Amino acid sequence: MHGNFTYHNPTRLHFGEEAMSHLTGELKNFGPVVMLSYGGGSIKRNGIYDAVVAVLQETGKTIVEDAGVMPNPTYEKVQEGCRLVRDNHVDLILAVGGGSTIDYAKAVSASAYCEEEPWEKYWVNHKDPACPTIPVGAVLTMVGTGSEMNGGSVITNRKAGFKLGKVFGPALYPKFTILNPRFTMTVPQYQMVAGFYDIMSHLMEQYFAGTADCTTDYLIEGLMRSLIHSSRIAAKNPQDYEARANIMWTATWALNTLLKCGKGGDWEVHQIGHAIGLVTDATHGMTLASVSLPYYRHVMHDGLHQFKRFAVNVWGVRPEGKNDEQIATEGLACLAAWMKEIGVVTHSRELGVSEENLQQVADAVLILPVGYRTLTRDEVIDILRESL
Ligand code: NZQ
Ligand code: ZN
Repeated sequence: MHGNFTYHNPTRLHFGEEAMSHLTGELKNFGPVVMLSYGGGSIKRNGIYDAVVAVLQETGKTIVEDAGVMPNPTYEKVQEGCRLVRDNHVDLILAVGGGSTIDYAKAVSASAYCEEEPWEKYWVNHKDPACPTIPVGAVLTMVGTGSEMNGGSVITNRKAGFKLGKVFGPALYPKFTILNPRFTMTVPQYQMVAGFYDIMSHLMEQYFAGTADCTTDYLIEGLMRSLIHSSRIAAKNPQDYEARANIMWTATWALNTLLKCGKGGDWEVHQIGHAIGLVTDATHGMTLASVSLPYYRHVMHDGLHQFKRFAVNVWGVRPEGKNDEQIATEGLACLAAWMKEIGVVTHSRELGVSEENLQQVADAVLILPVGYRTLTRDEVIDILRESL
């Protein structure tokens, strides 16, 4: 283990089928005006909206309705939310939904009373809020992003031409999150498996960095193995509670800052995925799945030791009689087979990328100087072309 770090995560989690019973107690910690932020209506169809509103009413809260947070939330929508917060003197933003709704709630929280231009300040220049922020609470309905226990807030600004992530400090983490695996049972199969891949990508993008012997790598391998096991069950039978519950818990730990301790991280797959998301508005996890294999084949030789370890420790590849390259290649073949088995997209063409908009996607890719190799723009184009 190398490096210096401080570990602190302030989000209180309530997990399990009875998790909602904790909402009443949590709400007592905040003022009377609650902005209820949610997406395009799934929570109205599956009954979660009614359950949450009942608790808000029982606890005497004034509800400010804030519907229509879209997947890949936009900066325009964030500005709308900010106006609602200011006009109604909101005391708590309760985000009920997936990563998009929770990311959006954090963005509104930090931006509502910001005296500078929030896009430039937070998403472009990565500064921290200097203004009062509104506490955020969450009821998670879709598994994958880890937004329920981190400071991440990914916002799409089409006018600026970027989809960018800001990682806020602990003040912007949800104060509490309700994690009931049953709430995720109505997520459509396509979204569900996209979420599974998002988790795998978070794990891989923290794993494929560094050369030291590091406890964090052992944690990541364990989480990957649990995810692979449970995702195989859930992809065939989405109603399997045990598998869905395991995956929900894995997703939270995959991106709640624990796994960056002692590790540098890579995150280039997410940068390419965000650029695809900007141009096509495709589902986040699928954007990652569509470029991962070309990306990892491209950088495998630069981090051969770790790709070999991945093959043996995660996929159970037998190393006897094989050289490092053969072992590592076999590991990526196992990853590809698993992706096929759970049913994620492996070609960016299926998401709307083509020769015609490939340069536009490449222009929106941030190239990070991390991981085993810093890409050039030409390499980004090669990877995108291979992903078609
Ligand atoms: O809008 P509704 O009607 O609720 O439908 C949503 C949406 O269409 C639906 N859904 C959610 N829960 C459901 C459900 N449908 C039926 N039953 C339920 N229980 O699923 C669709 C996708 O929801 P969304 O919130 O967009 O998905 P996800 O959780 O994957 O979030 C994606 C966003 O998070 C960002 C992504 O870039 C993307 O913008 N990320 C945030 C991160 C973070 N905060 O750390 C990290 C991630 O890497 C990621 O970048
Ligand atoms: Zn992600």
